[in-house]
Amino acid sequence: MTKEYNIGVIPGDGTGPEVVAEAIKVLEVISLKGGPKFRFTSYGLGGERYLKTGELLSDSILSELKEMDSICLGAIGHPDVRPGILEREILLRLRFELDLYINLRPVALFPGVYTPLKDKGPEDIDFVVVRENTEGLYAGGGGFLKRGSPDEVAIQESITTRKGVERCIRFAFEYCLNRNKDKHLTLCGKINVLTYEFDLWNRVFQEVLEEYPDVTTDYQHVDAICMWMVKNPEMFDVIVTNNMFGDIITDLGAIIQGGLGIAAGGNINPHGTAMFEPIGGSAPKYAGLNKINPIAAISAAQMMLDYLGEKEAARVLLNAIKKVVKDDLKSLEAGKMGYGTKEVGDLVVGYL
Ligand code: IPM
Ligand code: MN
Repeated sequence: MTKEYNIGVIPGDGTGPEVVAEAIKVLEVISLKGGPKFRFTSYGLGGERYLKTGELLSDSILSELKEMDSICLGAIGHPDVRPGILEREILLRLRFELDLYINLRPVALFPGVYTPLKDKGPEDIDFVVVRENTEGLYAGGGGFLKRGSPDEVAIQESITTRKGVERCIRFAFEYCLNRNKDKHLTLCGKINVLTYEFDLWNRVFQEVLEEYPDVTTDYQHVDAICMWMVKNPEMFDVIVTNNMFGDIITDLGAIIQGGLGIAAGGNINPHGTAMFEPIGGSAPKYAGLNKINPIAAISAAQMMLDYLGEKEAARVLLNAIKKVVKDDLKSLEAGKMGYGTKEVGDLVVGYL
């Protein structure tokens, strides 16, 4: 019997609603063609609602979202709202409250897609970053002392727990073992400076690796990883790292795989729900213009299918995405694709 999934949809701000609409269009066609069925429930969270009503993320919406099989997110971020409010109260709150402790960010260059790396192709750029998603600098600890005075002090605390590190590292080993590549896991850290945090990460990593004799491992400093991602991206299979470093290296990853028009990620609780998103942000200057590339949002939907266990639908959609970026789009950049947002969604649908 075909399954039916409850999907919470948070179109969000800027171009979020436009790209999410294309992802949903694609999922609906997959259902029509005999694939899994979806019951979508949309939530109008984001900057517009906050500016009108002062509401960010209510407890009742949060508890509804907790019950969903998965969540599709567009983008959160509004030019008229001070940075940090929407991010912390909506996006990060969802990550924390739903305990979405893994941020899974594949970095894969598809054939026909432009990469700024000279002499590198799809066979070289194919790795996955497993980013811890609920701790570190993102935990929000800290504060000011004497703010606004000449003596002021700002403290931003980084919180690292053994439990948080261990569950992330275990996920990364499992993921690496089941991924069809080199079965090589790299721990990305800064053990020479962050001597407490990465001492803990490294000890847990060394403990857990004993259980995975088929996975080879190494350790790299985050600054060196940035260099190697540009010079020799082929050396990576799976990288596991903390929240902040994962944030930074996955923007670098996005640009070498063709940019924010294609990069997608999943915020995952392996024992609960998961939330999938294009990692590009709300791009307010393109909002409402039918110019933004929806492929990243459609790729996020593809990751969701895979995560839900709908492997066949995920495979078919992945092939459709690859066809469109190889054969149809002139560029992945907004306004330069040769098609509008909706038309790109239609092209994907055409290959399903
Ligand atoms: C991301 C984003 C977020 C993050 C911001 C919007 C809070 O950059 O998902 O990578 O830093 O995690
Ligand atoms: Mn980021």
